[in-house]
Amino acid sequence: MPPLKVCIVGSGNWGSAIAKIIGGNVRKSNRFNPIVNLWVFEELINGRKLTEIINEDHENVKYLPGHKLPKNVVAVPEVVEAATGADILVFVLPHQFISRVCGQLVGHVKSGAFGISLIKGVDEGPDGLKLISDIIREKLGIEVSVLMGANIASEVADEKFCETTIGCTNKQHGAIFKDLMQTPNFRITVVEDCDTVELCGALKNIVAVGAGFCDGLGFGDNTKAAVIRLGLMEMVAFAKLFCKGEVTTATFLESCGVADLITTCYGGRNRKVAEAFAKTGKSIEELEKAMLNGQKLQGPQASAEVYKILKQKNLSEKFPLFIAVYKICYEGTPVKEFISCLQNHPEHL
Ligand SMILES: NC(=O)c1ccc[n+]([C@@H]2O[C@H](COP(=O)([O-])OP(=O)(O)OC[C@H]3O[C@@H](n4cnc5c(N)ncnc54)[C@H](O)[C@@H]3O)[C@@H](O)[C@H]2O)c1
Repeated sequence: MPPLKVCIVGSGNWGSAIAKIIGGNVRKSNRFNPIVNLWVFEELINGRKLTEIINEDHENVKYLPGHKLPKNVVAVPEVVEAATGADILVFVLPHQFISRVCGQLVGHVKSGAFGISLIKGVDEGPDGLKLISDIIREKLGIEVSVLMGANIASEVADEKFCETTIGCTNKQHGAIFKDLMQTPNFRITVVEDCDTVELCGALKNIVAVGAGFCDGLGFGDNTKAAVIRLGLMEMVAFAKLFCKGEVTTATFLESCGVADLITTCYGGRNRKVAEAFAKTGKSIEELEKAMLNGQKLQGPQASAEVYKILKQKNLSEKFPLFIAVYKICYEGTPVKEFISCLQNHPEHL
């Protein structure tokens, strides 16, 4: 079998960290083509194109400063050119851009190609919530696995030990992705509960916003632990309601479940911005611009998608944490009411 050619679609903080891993791994295995294309949304940094900086200095100075990317990772500014001829597409960009980018790729994906989504978020569909992997499947007609876990990009890039979870519907693809991305410090478990893995990645960001509110309001560790636990219960209940396939509770014990939830509620941008929101009263959009240097938030938007589907199904009362996050972010509910929204949680009745 000819070596598999890889294209990474997206080059933000996580895209660049995973490019470091993939670039290193393809060189060590003859299963893969040693050149990896990295699609970069072009921007000028101090008058120089970001693609030029990456290809000449081998560093994404805007989104992952301080880390060298392997020289076999080649930045390409046109997404169609980057993906042409690729057997494996790794999707890793903020979810708000996925539809447009996939639209550009229609008709340009190699026959037999398959993908994996590292994107944490959900979108809106005609019947409510839509998984990002479903958008990619529908637009491009390819099989799509997902990778989610407790993986703050800068720590992964620093090669600090962590775990992650791949959810796949095709075991052969699962094994290939593990080969492509596993390292001694990035350990991968493969499960087949693909939709559950993906939903965990989106829903935990909503819980992290709640955790950030608690930090901003001056609550302690007990409160945060309660928010994490109640959030996890809502994640499980929501997955059972929403997933088409079977939802295995054990999947929530994988890195994509409880581990990612903990790391996101302590580190992570959603928690950080939510804490500032509670402390300053500035809007989420204002804080996102001021604090994240071009990076995007996912938690508030995910809460809006979840709110719509829960309202439509008349189930809001069963998910007070998700609903409180939405109402505080978008409907002007005072942030100090966050805890009171949880005091009559169905878990306590
Ligand atoms: N950063 C992390 O620690 C981390 C960890 C795990 C998963 N993720 C997930 O990975 C996904 C990608 O996040 P990230 O951290 O790599 O991105 P990011 O938020 O760091 O960067 C934003 C990216 O979007 C690009 N961009 C800006 N405007 C654009 C446009 N109009 N069209 C297309 N692209 C545009 C930028 O060039 C940049 O590459 C997200 O779903 C995130 O939840 C992130």
